Parts: sequence; structure tokens; C-alpha cells
Amino acid sequence: MEVIERIKAKARASVKRIVLPEGDEPRTVEAARIVAEEGVAEPVLLTPGLIARAENKSRLDAYAAALYELRKAKGLTMEASARLVSDPMYYGMMMVKEGDADGLVSGAVHSTGDMLRPALQIVKTAPGMKLVSSAFLLESRIADFGENGLLVLADCVVNPCPNAEELANIAVAAANTARTLCDFVEPRVAMLSFSSKGSADHPLVDKVREATAIARALAPDLLVDGELQLDAALVPEVAAVKAKDSPVAGRANVLVFPDLQSGNIGYKIAQRLGGASCFAVLQGLAGPCNDLSRGCSVEDIVNTIAATAVQKQAVQ
Ligand code: ACO
Repeated sequence: MEVIERIKAKARASVKRIVLPEGDEPRTVEAARIVAEEGVAEPVLLTPGLIARAENKSRLDAYAAALYELRKAKGLTMEASARLVSDPMYYGMMMVKEGDADGLVSGAVHSTGDMLRPALQIVKTAPGMKLVSSAFLLESRIADFGENGLLVLADCVVNPCPNAEELANIAVAAANTARTLCDFVEPRVAMLSFSSKGSADHPLVDKVREATAIARALAPDLLVDGELQLDAALVPEVAAVKAKDSPVAGRANVLVFPDLQSGNIGYKIAQRLGGASCFAVLQGLAGPCNDLSRGCSVEDIVNTIAATAVQKQAVQ
């Protein structure tokens, strides 16, 4: 993907320390070697053995105490906390939380849920953000769409059933991701539905309309419009018929799906039937943490490390 080369170049400009909790996984080890060699990031490979070393005991104890403080109201005991931080995933999240790492990349072995849950519980949302969601950077073979074929899609990974307020937050976060990772000067956000501007009435459509209004209130300078069908969002000729006066329709570069079923199915259709290239990041966390697919390649891990580093640059 072309966008990845730009992301890597940005990552090299201000090197970030990215922790890799799956530190004995062969693809991850190779990716760490490459990012260090290419100056894309400073990788920190974690293994249970490294964490348990005697010289690391004081840091392990400090993380156990900090995690206990963070989660005791949720019923976490000191013993359970000590056990959790000896797991590289939790230890890595604590590194991000305590500022000992700039970001985290994991998921070559762990499932999405197993990586997301500790991120949500420990790193939590960034100030001003209501929820964590995901964005896909999608490069279409058709350059007419988005910015030269590049689009941002959200949320296709995290929130199964967002309400209107959550959907509005996803839209604003996706616009930020479009600026940070894709260099979009003017994100144009389409709130997708099976209806365009009142062509259908249904409570599901009402939710998208309400989300559009909330997103406008949250980000008055952002170009956001809805409800729009996908063709009205992307194709000028369709937009001219279905959403004539929309500032977004026909030229959207950020697509916000109404729920996770449509988002997850939507990006996979673009990828598998449309031959688009896709790349996912999480957005809204206080420190950038990103998930990999368990089928990922070494290159996917390198790319995700680079994107994580650039997300960190953006919040500084
Ligand atoms: N943003 C911020 N915080 C959140 C969010 C969110 N979107 N979702 C949950 N949380 C918080 C909760 O408030 C809770 O915090 P607390 O413990 O401090 O009170 C904590 O995270 C855990 O919440 P739970 O509801 O107990 O977590 P749950 O078991 O529901 O897991 C998860 C959350 C993992 C994100 C779940 O929603 C999920 O599984 N989503 C779908 C993931 C998935 O399978 N995606 C599709 C496949 S990936 C692909 O195709 C590329």
C-alpha cells in the first residue's frame, strides 16, 4: 500500500519505542529486527522469561501495585494483579500506561478480544474520547474514490452495536485518523445507511441521522453528512440524484458504518471481491495499541509498528 510507505517515512522522522508482547513469536522477532534496522521504531520484545528476571523485579512489583490501584474497585486483588503483570500482554499494557513505551503491537498469537480487553481496561480512552474504535485504511483499485483511491472506514472491528452518540464519536475519531495517518487535509465523513436523506424511514435510519447531528455538534468544522447510502456517498452522479446539496455526498473519503456487522462485512467485501488493500488501526486509546490478524505476515507487523509510532507522534 502506498500510504504505508508515507507512514513509515513519518515514523522514521521521530523514532518511538514500541513494545511487542509476543516477543518469542518468529514473525514478530523478524519484524522487530527490520524496524530497528530501518529506523522505523525502537522495538521492545517481551517474553515471560525476560519479565521474570531478577533485575526486573522492582519494575514488575511497581506495575503490579499500579495495576492493583487501577482495578481494585473492579475486584482485582494484589495477588491476581501480580499474576497478571507477569503476562507479557498485561506487562506491555502497563509499560504504555506508565509511559515506559510509546505504543504496543500484538495479535500475531492472541485473538482480537484478548488484546483489546487489557487495552480497554488499562490504557483506556484518550482524554476527550468516549470510546475506542477502529479504522481501516483502504486503498481501492479505483482512483476516483476517496483521495486517489484511499479511504478510511470505521468501525469494522470493535463496537458491535454503537448508539447514536457512540457512532458520532467513531465518526470524529475516524476523521482524526484520516488526518494523522492519511494526511487528509479535508476529511469528508459519510454516515452510511440503507437510506439517503429520508428515502426510507426506520429506527435504524433515525440512529444514523441522530449520530450525524451529534458529530456536527462535537466537531463543527468537520464535513459530515448523513444518512447516505454507499453509492450516494461515493459516486457523484448518484449523489446528484439522491443527496443534491450535500457537501460530502459523491466525494466522501471517510465512511462510517452504522454497526459492526455492516462494517466488518463491508470492508471484507471491498477486500475480497473488490481487490482493495486494507490496513486496520485502533483509535481513541490514551496510548496507541494495535492489533494484528493471527494470519499476519512479517510485513504486516512492520507496517502496524510504523502506524503505531505515527499515532503516538500525533498525540504529543
Ligand atoms: N471503548 C472503550 N472502553 C470499552 C469499550 C470501547 N469500545 N468496550 C468496552 N470497554 C470497556 C468497558 O467499559 C470495560 O471497562 P471496565 O472494566 O473498566 O469497566 C472494559 O472495557 C471491558 O468491557 P467488557 O464489556 O467487559 O468487555 P467485553 O468482554 O465486552 O469486550 C470487546 C470488549 C473485546 C471490545 C468486545 O466488544 C468485542 O469482542 N468486540 C468485537 C471484537 C471482534 O471480534 N471484532 C471482529 C473481528 S476482528 C476483524 O475482523 C479484523
